[in-house]
Amino acid sequence: MLQAVDLEQIRRVTRDWRRQALTTALVPTMGNLHEGHLALVRKAREHADRVVASIYVNPTQFGEGEDYGSYPRTPDTDRVALEASGCDLLFAPGHDTVYPPGIKNSIRLLASPDLAAPLEGECRPGHFDGVLTVVARLFNLVGPDVAVFGEKDFQQLLLIRRMVEDLSFDIRIVSVPTVREHNGLAMSSRNRFLRTEEKAAAVRLSTVLSDVVEQVRNDPSHWEQAEQDAVSRLESWGFRVDYVAVRRSDNLAAPSKEGAPMRVLAAVRCGKTRLIDNMKII
Ligand code: PAF
Repeated sequence: MLQAVDLEQIRRVTRDWRRQALTTALVPTMGNLHEGHLALVRKAREHADRVVASIYVNPTQFGEGEDYGSYPRTPDTDRVALEASGCDLLFAPGHDTVYPPGIKNSIRLLASPDLAAPLEGECRPGHFDGVLTVVARLFNLVGPDVAVFGEKDFQQLLLIRRMVEDLSFDIRIVSVPTVREHNGLAMSSRNRFLRTEEKAAAVRLSTVLSDVVEQVRNDPSHWEQAEQDAVSRLESWGFRVDYVAVRRSDNLAAPSKEGAPMRVLAAVRCGKTRLIDNMKII
């Protein structure tokens, strides 16, 4: 597996691939890779001749008091896992490559408020501005034909699709369903912060979301009741609930149109760890 850490190194490889008429897929990550990330790498392989995975813990998407400093960094095991999953190039840029004028003086994107303001946006103001800023920068550094993202961060996925359309990036976005542990817990780098008893409790989030899916499928008009029931159950088990929301899958608006695709999205705190998850309803 090749490795690159700066603009010159990545461009040298990607120009060479382009000269050979090889297509490239990018899998952006913040490292601490688990099976969910490796599923993205495998999906990327299906869509392009060469696969680049980036590892960069992006400071601009973390708010004050969030876990930027303690975000798990495991470069050695990540490298081994990527190599084994068939990644061709690991791009691990430093801040100077991603934000050349310095983080403070770099140009930033402002995420579309209709998609960015609700749900995660309410709990993490500015988060999606940072996500889109770094993803746009990675797109420009790597120049992929395809980029692969997980459905676990569903609001992020919608915003990246919107950015690609809005800014006319010539990049196809491919998404991959959430990978779960055998007990239903959505895989996440933050799961490693859960203590043993918290991990057992965290499984309940996916159970509750499955129940919301069933309730709304059976009786779509009572989606608000299903949200409230879910919040009450989660709170009774000691979770602090940021939101449980049934929304349209295309624009995150409240369900209105009969038959429009819907998802349930949730964020809760389990001890010190914030968990997010979502499931397709129809
Ligand atoms: O989903 C993530 O891991 C991050 O938000 C991303 C897309 C790599 C941007 O830093």
